Amino acid sequence: MVLVVDYGSQYSRLITRRIRENEVYSEVVFPDDKVDLSKVDAVILSGGPRSVYEEDAPKLPEWFQEYKGPVLAICYGMQLIVKELGGEVRRGRGEYGRTLVELSRDPIFEGIPEKVHVWMSHGDEVVRLPEGFHPIAVSETGVIAAATDGKRFWLLQFHPEVHHTEYGDRMISNFLFNVCKLEKNWKIGDLVEEKIRHIKETIGNKKAILALSGGVDSSVAAVLVHRAIGKNLVCVFVDHGLLRKNEREEVERVFKEHFDMNLVVVDARKRFLEKLRGVTDPEKKRKIIGEEFIRVFEEEAKKHDVEFLVQGTIYSDVIESAASGKTTAKIKSHHNVGGLPEKMNLKLVEPLRDLFKDEVRKVGKYLGIPDRIINRHPFPGPGLAVRVLGEVTEEKLEILREADYIFIETLRKHDYYDKVWQAFAVLLPIKSVGVKGDARAYEYVVALRAVNSVEGMTADWSRIPHDILDEAARRITREVKGVGRVVYDITSKPPATIEWE
Ligand code: XMP
Repeated sequence: MVLVVDYGSQYSRLITRRIRENEVYSEVVFPDDKVDLSKVDAVILSGGPRSVYEEDAPKLPEWFQEYKGPVLAICYGMQLIVKELGGEVRRGRGEYGRTLVELSRDPIFEGIPEKVHVWMSHGDEVVRLPEGFHPIAVSETGVIAAATDGKRFWLLQFHPEVHHTEYGDRMISNFLFNVCKLEKNWKIGDLVEEKIRHIKETIGNKKAILALSGGVDSSVAAVLVHRAIGKNLVCVFVDHGLLRKNEREEVERVFKEHFDMNLVVVDARKRFLEKLRGVTDPEKKRKIIGEEFIRVFEEEAKKHDVEFLVQGTIYSDVIESAASGKTTAKIKSHHNVGGLPEKMNLKLVEPLRDLFKDEVRKVGKYLGIPDRIINRHPFPGPGLAVRVLGEVTEEKLEILREADYIFIETLRKHDYYDKVWQAFAVLLPIKSVGVKGDARAYEYVVALRAVNSVEGMTADWSRIPHDILDEAARRITREVKGVGRVVYDITSKPPATIEWE
């Protein structure tokens, strides 16, 4: 097992992920954690935001004295090793972002060109290496970018784990297989089985509850926990009336029939629509839906004697909520089932917390969840309420459902659904003039939106072929009563957001 010691870098989890991609098992620990060294084949020290010469800067773990195996030390990790072994680290000019480095011949750089661009992010720099070490990479500004003692320690000032470092993957696999001589002996299935074992241990024969949305994360969390505790997992699917066409039926079919899960479907359509009557402000809508959702869910939880709450939180949610602190402005108050755990006095189980989205999908595939669910586009918690602009009424929801269904089916028909990150229709709160038959028509406008994105933080509008858009627009104006015009949204994020509200 490769142990990653997390010194607070935002990239620490990315390191374990890169190792797992190489089919080698990896775990993250903090410097103060206790560790069973008999299981450790290699250690990686991550980067971190501190300076090694600050008084309370994190130190090498206590167990490190006894550990005699190979070490890859990245950024702060490198500086820590240099300082501890008698070298010198000083405040430098700093190198940030893409930097050109020249590499020497070394097993860790095998198969990599002599000059590559790497990703740097450091203010301090190594000015003198400990005895027995020699540099194996130098940056264009003359800073030692990598060093080794040729026996146990490989030190990198840059981040091989990030995408921007050319051949970063190769450096990591060179460390694993060339330097440490590890074997590929780990598969996603091992991770799943380990998680199932862990969930069994945690929940035992108690009951747990989960809010199932039918999206990827909650679906994978549900099936995983179901494998561990069976019918003791109560999945609650709240139909708030803001779902897409056939959505509730599809969720029932997959989870009740296919997986034989304990699924409770709550029909709360009336409650939500009543609460939303007359409300036009997007943030108010979100707040109402969030609060009502919690109420419905709590009522349901009371009916079952549950002790645990399962949530499909994934790693990007963890980063985002950490990042949404002081420095980032609130753009929209995203509602998942946030706020549930504090209010409900339940113990939280988050089996996907350390996984990236594509890993969650792999877990889902392993568990036999149909592709249609695994590859689903994201869908916002407040559902169609933020896509019916202005006041939400049943009539408008019905129009939007039909238009959205046609757009999505058209994309699927032309194999375009999986090529875009998210696609949907929006019902605008205006009518426009048209001509149908020989008569004047005055009907609603539907906007189609499709974007490409990574995790939704930024997005570019998708260049869907005109013929596909044409087919969708023709069908929508022909088949959906009340729609007289279709437009396509060609704004990226920023400045627009993905959703219109
Ligand atoms: P925006 O519109 O903020 O959307 O660019 C980014 C991604 O988040 C989804 N989204 C939400 N998801 N609750 C959610 O669970 C919300 O209130 C919400 N608002 C937006 C949106 O669909 C996109 O994938």
